[in-house]
Amino acid sequence: MCGIVGYTGKQECTDILINALSKLEYRGYDSAGIAVFENGCIEVEKSQGRLKNLVDKMDKGHKPVGVCGIGHTRWATHGEPSDVNSHPHGNKRVTIVHNGIIENYNEIKALLVKNGYVFESQTDTETVAKLLDFYYTGEPVDTIIKVIGEIRGSYALGILFADFPDTIFAVRKDSPLIIGKGKGENFIASDVPAILKYTKDYYLLESDEIAVIKPDEITFCDVHKNEIKKELQRADWDEDAAEKGGYAHFMLKEIHEQPTALKTTITPRVMDGMPFLEECGITVSMLEKVKNIFIVACGTAMHAGLVGKYIIERLARVSVTVDIASEFRYRNPIMGEDDLVILISQSGETADTKAVLQMAKERRTTTVSVVNVKGSSIARESDYVIYTHAGPEIAVASTKAYSVQLSVMYLFAFELAFAKGAINEDKVKELTKDLMNVPKVVEDTMNTMEDCQKIASKLVNSTSLLYIGRGLDYALSMEGSLKLKEISYIHSESYAAGELKHGTISLVTSDMPVIAIVTQKDLMEKTISNIKEVKARDGKVIVITQEDIEIDKEAYDYIIKVPAFNDLFMPIISSVVVQFISYYTAVLKGCDPDKPRNLAKSVTVE
Ligand code: F6R
Repeated sequence: MCGIVGYTGKQECTDILINALSKLEYRGYDSAGIAVFENGCIEVEKSQGRLKNLVDKMDKGHKPVGVCGIGHTRWATHGEPSDVNSHPHGNKRVTIVHNGIIENYNEIKALLVKNGYVFESQTDTETVAKLLDFYYTGEPVDTIIKVIGEIRGSYALGILFADFPDTIFAVRKDSPLIIGKGKGENFIASDVPAILKYTKDYYLLESDEIAVIKPDEITFCDVHKNEIKKELQRADWDEDAAEKGGYAHFMLKEIHEQPTALKTTITPRVMDGMPFLEECGITVSMLEKVKNIFIVACGTAMHAGLVGKYIIERLARVSVTVDIASEFRYRNPIMGEDDLVILISQSGETADTKAVLQMAKERRTTTVSVVNVKGSSIARESDYVIYTHAGPEIAVASTKAYSVQLSVMYLFAFELAFAKGAINEDKVKELTKDLMNVPKVVEDTMNTMEDCQKIASKLVNSTSLLYIGRGLDYALSMEGSLKLKEISYIHSESYAAGELKHGTISLVTSDMPVIAIVTQKDLMEKTISNIKEVKARDGKVIVITQEDIEIDKEAYDYIIKVPAFNDLFMPIISSVVVQFISYYTAVLKGCDPDKPRNLAKSVTVE
């Protein structure tokens, strides 16, 4: 969590830092701050709240002028969101920005207090800033090495030493950091979109590597001061892709980008009509041997895993357990060398998912990750990675990343089913062909936008609602429910339709809308009976179904129909509807769908 940036070059850098931070606000927006060398001194400006507050504050007060500086956008962990807890932290000699958590900060604080230091904030970060000051000998790299030898936890640090007014020092462990390389100017950033306006070239800093960044030179070394040569990476996202492109919000733009994202993710993984995961190193002979599968992820990514379970078990007849990473890692799961752990993560940096990856490696269980951000920790550290090609997802609520994760789950299930001999080549080809048609059907489903807007106007005054479904519809209802509550703040729960009568139906009144997803023809009659039970108790029912499914008018109040297609792929197709409903409900309620309160995009804390 938190986003950090830095610039050193020849241009006036305050606006550059602000622009770069604006691309990282998805990582947190509890406060923002910058530190810039002005006339040889480190000048800090910071403010609680969104970046705009900082900009307004500087417009009215002091806007530092200089060509080297660092910046931060915060998602609060230690210490409430406030001006004093905002980054940067430090003093006139050493000032830092930090993304991560220092676990032993209390110990370090005690040592520093004993040595006369006085603390202003409640943050863990301030201890690092003061420890750097405490050990500073005039040689920054030695000081950094000494300090990282004493701190525990995760960190990406951008550091300014007053004695080196054109230089940014950076180091990281378990929190991401890239070093952007420009012409006569260089950058640091937590993520690529922050630097795209200025350069597409960057280096990936690995854990325990230190970078020394000057306008015309970037050097890297390890904790023994051995120089490291690194390969330059080139971003294949352009700046426009990280901008709103005319849409009111990133979320709306990202919903509309799904047909392209799906096509870009699926097409390179199909060869001669068959799924082709060999490009990711995953072969049929490797899959033949797989015994049990564990799919582990958080939030929306976990919901993609639930759909994966249904289709893998149905097609490949391999047992799949899906779990939330923060639970899985502490329940001492039984997994062995013949099993496979699939980790799904948009950011590739989610702390709990990363921890499961380490656990699987310790147990020698093969790991496959499904990740959107290239070069992220989970992608790099897993045995195999299947990249989703959604492009940058900026809105906090995941949309296109979810649908492309689903498409990978399908490809994987087809290849596994083939490897296991559970379905023959003709059937695999038939399913793969349908999957290749899904982007077009998703495109057609965009026509439901107005209907979804109307449904949103019916939900906007509700305080609580239920999402129900069976089978694959239940898996999608979990995602629909999360999407709605996270951005509209309307309490919502997802229930298996058949489970309602075992308790939850007592909540149903005329004030409690029930959204029923009814796209699976083999289960449809049973779900329709369940919604009739809701109607009989005066509940308001909204049905999401396929065009070719006829449902008795008495069973619902409102209906949204998606194009008719193979039932198996309905979670991808109908996801557009649940996304639109959530988006418009949030907008009608006056909530910012791109930046829901208390949330951040990349959850790098446990
Ligand atoms: C919800 C959402 C989150 C993420 C979760 C995992 O819309 O986006 O639930 O899915 O925080 O993040 P990643 O996929 O980056 O591991």
